[in-house]
Amino acid sequence: MPASSSLRLIVADRDEASRQAADLLAGVLRTESPVLGLATGSSVEAVYEELAILVSGDPELQSGVSRAQAFALDEYIGLPPDDANSYRATLLRQFAEPVGLAPDHLHLPSPQAVAAAYDDEIARAGGIRLQLLGIGSNGHIGFNEPGSLLNSRTRLVDLDERTRRDNARFFGALDAVPMQAITQGIGTILNAATLVVLAFGSAKAEALTAAILGPVTPDLPASALQHHPDVIVLADEEASRMLRPGG
Ligand code: F6R
Repeated sequence: MPASSSLRLIVADRDEASRQAADLLAGVLRTESPVLGLATGSSVEAVYEELAILVSGDPELQSGVSRAQAFALDEYIGLPPDDANSYRATLLRQFAEPVGLAPDHLHLPSPQAVAAAYDDEIARAGGIRLQLLGIGSNGHIGFNEPGSLLNSRTRLVDLDERTRRDNARFFGALDAVPMQAITQGIGTILNAATLVVLAFGSAKAEALTAAILGPVTPDLPASALQHHPDVIVLADEEASRMLRPGG
C-alpha cells in the first residue's frame, strides 16, 4: 500500500497530459501570488508550449505571468549560463520567452550562492504552489539520484552514470554531459503545495511503478512522492502499463 492515498494517476497521451498540466499551471497563474516550480527535459517541453498558447489568448493569465515567480528544480554545474544546454538557457527559451515571464522572475539554484539559500529564496516568495516534475529512468526527481536523503535540501550532487547517459542525447556525446549539478532536495520538493509528475514512454514504467507502489526508500527518490499529500501523475499508456489492471 502506498503511504499516501492522495496520489492521483491520470492516464493520457502526451498531448492530452501536457494540456492538463498546462491547465493546472494556468490555475496557479490566476491566483494572487503565483509561485511555480519548473522542471526541464523532454517530459515537460510540450507543457510549456501549451501554457504559452493559453496565455497568449487570455489577459488574466498574462497578468498572472507578470506577478509570477518561477523556480527551477536544478542546474548543471560547469556549463556557462548562456550554454544552450544550461537549464537557465533552456527555461528562458522554452518557458520564459514563450510565456512572457520576465527573466528576473526566473530563478535557478546557482553554485555561486550557498545552495541552501535557494530554499530560503523559495520560502521568501511564499513557497512553490505547483511543482512540475519528470522522473528519471533510475527513479530520480530533480537531480536527487538514488541514495539521496528523503529530507535533503538544495545542494550540489554528482550525477548518476545512468542520468548522464540518458541526458547525452541533449549534448551529442556522453563526455560533454556535466558530472555535477545543483538540485532542489527531496525535502525541498516535498514542500511544494502540489506536485505534478509527467512520465511518458516505457523507459519510465519501472521507475514510476516502484515510485507509486514500492517501498519509500532513498534507493528510489521518487518513492518520496508517497509522503506528499497532493500528487497528480500524468502518464501515458507505456509509462503506466504496470500500474493498470492486466498491465
Ligand atoms: C529536470 C529534472 C529531471 C528530469 C528527468 C526526466 O529538471 O530535474 O529530474 O525531469 O530526468 O527527464 P526527461 O523528461 O528528459 O525524460
